[in-house]
Amino acid sequence: MATEKSAMDPNLEELPDLRNSKGHGFLCFQHDGLYLFVLPPQIMKGRRNTDTVKTVTEAELKDDDIIICAYPKCGTHWLWEVIEMLISGTIKYQKDVKETRMMEFIFKEGIEAVPPPRVFNTHLPLRMLPKQVVEKKVKCIQIMRNPKDACVSFFNHCRNLVEPQGYEGDFAEFTEAFLSGKLPFGSYSTYLLTWKAEVAASQEFPVLNLFYEEMKFDPVKSVKDIAKFLRLKSTDQFCEEVAAACSFKKMKKVDEEMKGDLPFKIWKDGSDGTFYRKGEIGDWKNWFTVAENEKFDQIWNEKMKDSGFEFTYTPV
Ligand code: A3P
Repeated sequence: MATEKSAMDPNLEELPDLRNSKGHGFLCFQHDGLYLFVLPPQIMKGRRNTDTVKTVTEAELKDDDIIICAYPKCGTHWLWEVIEMLISGTIKYQKDVKETRMMEFIFKEGIEAVPPPRVFNTHLPLRMLPKQVVEKKVKCIQIMRNPKDACVSFFNHCRNLVEPQGYEGDFAEFTEAFLSGKLPFGSYSTYLLTWKAEVAASQEFPVLNLFYEEMKFDPVKSVKDIAKFLRLKSTDQFCEEVAAACSFKKMKKVDEEMKGDLPFKIWKDGSDGTFYRKGEIGDWKNWFTVAENEKFDQIWNEKMKDSGFEFTYTPV
């Protein structure tokens, strides 16, 4: 399968070979220094991946657009549902799936077609987002999660994807790719360092930084912080209702019972692929051996030293 992947040229583009020594890797294209999933033909409609992702920077935004920015598996679905409830002022779940608002899936034409009020989401770095994000001072909310749980969650995501995107390697192999950056959206450390540097280098624009773990510890406080950042006059009682409605259990049930279809088939037949897997802090302890954990710490700490990022790895 890995040989087919590297030989495959779905949109007439040269694809990087991301296979490891065991022949396991991802089907990605490369744009502006970043590896991104090759999208299926029904989305691409004969276009090249690089051409479509390039259009995102030119998309027209509206002053009151909101963008959720996050590395994969850090809580985008959760945050999206919270924000949509807050801005609509009602406890109503989104029927659409969040991929219908994902900038790197819908490109310029799709971004501009979304009716207001608009809450987009993306895993792209700032330099690949619409230029108007900074020009119009569009509100961005960044959600971060401890890298070990993000790694476990991303592995479980990738191993359940349909071919040719599905990852065949084991967890230890995935962790190596996660740390070295040979995977879709690159390494998490690079994502965070790049985001921080790009925001610092831009003219000031509004960014709220959130942590998955803080949202788990005190969801009501996080919902109130988001409402305040968005300048909404949400009451304390409404924030409590939003936090409760967006608990992991409730959202998982809603996903199973009423969510619309994804724009294309994503999970392998017979797999346990889901966007609502465990929703916990500290699941990484069930995945890393002691030696793998030490190696992870060593590499991660070296890359992130002096960066100022601090993460929580265990529930209180
Ligand atoms: P796990 O795989 O650890 O369970 P994203 O939305 O960015 O793809 O992130 C997915 C991760 O967020 C998954 O983590 C998922 O279970 C978790 N998640 C989704 N909704 C959640 C919620 N309401 N509360 C806590 N975690 C949630």
